[in-house]
Amino acid sequence: MSASSDPEAGFGIAGQVAIVTGAASGIGRATAIRLAAHGARVTAVDIDGGRLAGLEGCVTATADLSRPEACEHVVDTVLAREGRLDILVNAAAILRRVPIPEVDPELWDEVMDANLLSQFALCRAAVRPMRRQKSGRIVNISSTAAFNGGANASSVYAISKGGVLALTKSLARQLAADGVVVNAVCPGGIDTPMGRFGFTEESWNAHFQANALLRRAGQPEEVAGAIVFLVSDWASYVTGHTLDVEGGLMLR
Ligand SMILES: NC(=O)c1ccc[n+]([C@@H]2O[C@H](COP(=O)([O-])OP(=O)(O)OC[C@H]3O[C@@H](n4cnc5c(N)ncnc54)[C@H](O)[C@@H]3O)[C@@H](O)[C@H]2O)c1
Repeated sequence: MSASSDPEAGFGIAGQVAIVTGAASGIGRATAIRLAAHGARVTAVDIDGGRLAGLEGCVTATADLSRPEACEHVVDTVLAREGRLDILVNAAAILRRVPIPEVDPELWDEVMDANLLSQFALCRAAVRPMRRQKSGRIVNISSTAAFNGGANASSVYAISKGGVLALTKSLARQLAADGVVVNAVCPGGIDTPMGRFGFTEESWNAHFQANALLRRAGQPEEVAGAIVFLVSDWASYVTGHTLDVEGGLMLR
């Protein structure tokens, strides 16, 4: 993508080669669908291969991205097939609610590997082709938990999401000279299996009525819209940025 390409012509996304992780569900799935609808050549990756079925217009791949070698393999496979990589969206993650005194090394590793090491390893692998191409767009999904410490004992999750913001800013600094932009999106209160975890229907509705300025939870498609903006030519001068998509939950 370049500053001279025409943003009106499909936002500069048509024909771009993209990897979207966490694509079996929620925000990752909505993003894969939207990018494919705009003409991107999307590889949709998830640990849950069964639920990747039906992703129209995407190539699908099953991988446990908490293993760095699996991340390398995903990028290598896309490069072998497509010859380039333009867009990486890191959405895969897990949520565990355990108070800090009860966090053991296994839980720490499980969450940090799935949420932070995976993003690190995928970014590291994606940087090589993007540097060669002198272009690329990376969006890492963090969370409002990075700012508020994580509700209901989601401490290690919050720590991993803070790490995602630091990873994003660090990469943005190191890759700007190569024409690669790196940004983060912080969703909050999105209607997905992870978002609803621990809520009843009643407590879910009551929570957003009371706390979100927009008085409702968000839909995965509303986060996908922000992600598509950040990987499009509309955002060609945006890097190292954190875009909150949370209906005003964090406004104080
Ligand atoms: N839903 C929210 O309210 C909310 C709020 C803040 C941040 N987020 C973030 O948004 C992103 C998407 O979350 P979502 O709400 O769509 O959740 P989700 O649970 O619907 O989807 C997450 C997907 O990641 C996949 N995944 C988990 N571990 C994996 C691994 N090791 N390898 C490959 N895939 C793996 C899961 O199988 C699942 O399909 C996550 O990074 C999450 O932390 C969501």
